[in-house]
Amino acid sequence: MHPEVVVLSLILLLTDAVVSYTQVSGVVGHPVIIPCSYSVASGVTSMCWGQGACPTSKCSNELIWTDGSQVTFRKHRRYKLEGNLLQGNVSLTIENAAKTDSGLYCCRIEHSGWFNDMKLTLSLEIKPGNMYKMYMKHKWFYM
Ligand SMILES: *[C@@H]1O[C@H](CO)[C@@H](O)[C@H](O)[C@H]1NC(C)=O
Repeated sequence: MHPEVVVLSLILLLTDAVVSYTQVSGVVGHPVIIPCSYSVASGVTSMCWGQGACPTSKCSNELIWTDGSQVTFRKHRRYKLEGNLLQGNVSLTIENAAKTDSGLYCCRIEHSGWFNDMKLTLSLEIKPGNMYKMYMKHKWFYM
């Protein structure tokens, strides 16, 4: 093997290790909970959920915002925070999950000061539910 190939393989291996996010899976047509929580020892704080990896600030493709005690914005009724917010459980519930919900999600807890935010990027995979398999026009569809 050429040394270049070895170096390239090593780089690929390393990048792969860095880009492995916590995996969460759900089933089409069912609710899915993406877990995220923080310590409320110094009080509750604002946070957002967004689609895609956590950007430098806030969330990209914002799905939901809470000021710490209640939800202040949500993109759609499907997105809910059903955990105990006052205890720092800001897990995201997506009702009626679809295959297209698969992808990266960012849970960002805002803490004052620069670079103090807690960022957690998770990878969601929505799997087809066989119970919902449907035969239509000579083709199987997963709902
Ligand atoms: C957080 O809330 C979710 C519901 O959104 C619940 O399923 C989960 O068990 C809670 N987690 C903890 C650690 O209490």
